[in-house]
Amino acid sequence: MKKLEIIVRTSTFNTVKKALEAIGIHGMTIIEVKGYGRQRGYKEVYRGATLESQFVPKTQINLLVHDEGLPLVLETAISAARTGELGDGKIAVLPVEDVIRIRTGERGDIAI
Ligand SMILES: Nc1ncnc2c1ncn2[C@@H]1O[C@H](COP(=O)(O)OP(=O)(O)OP(=O)(O)O)[C@@H](O)[C@H]1O
Ligand SMILES: [Mg+2]
Repeated sequence: MKKLEIIVRTSTFNTVKKALEAIGIHGMTIIEVKGYGRQRGYKEVYRGATLESQFVPKTQINLLVHDEGLPLVLETAISAARTGELGDGKIAVLPVEDVIRIRTGERGDIAI
């Protein structure tokens, strides 16, 4: 099992969400975050205005996925989030030791 932390532009989030739902992703957590990458937040435009601050609003999608599903989920998220411009986002892939569905106590792959 893996946890994906997918940071995308707020403007591509809906497209990414729909693409993930279309391949059968049935649970996700989103967080409105602020961050910057290699350009330190400069040279990115948000809603038509150049930001003076270093921090750019982004949306982070957290997903728990089965190992077998990982390649398709990554491909789908990348192609939906990519514009080709600076600031398209970043994905971290983390190992997950266990997942527990609280209602039933199920653990592991079945709890995703
Ligand atoms: N090294 C990092 N550590 C933690 N978060 C990061 C890091 N790099 C980028 N991020 C997060 O990802 C968001 C998007 O980063 P961004 O797409 O600008 O990455 P980049 O490496 O600068 O790529 P690009 O050159 O295409 O802009 C940032 O706003 C920030 O929230
Ligand atoms: Mg950048």
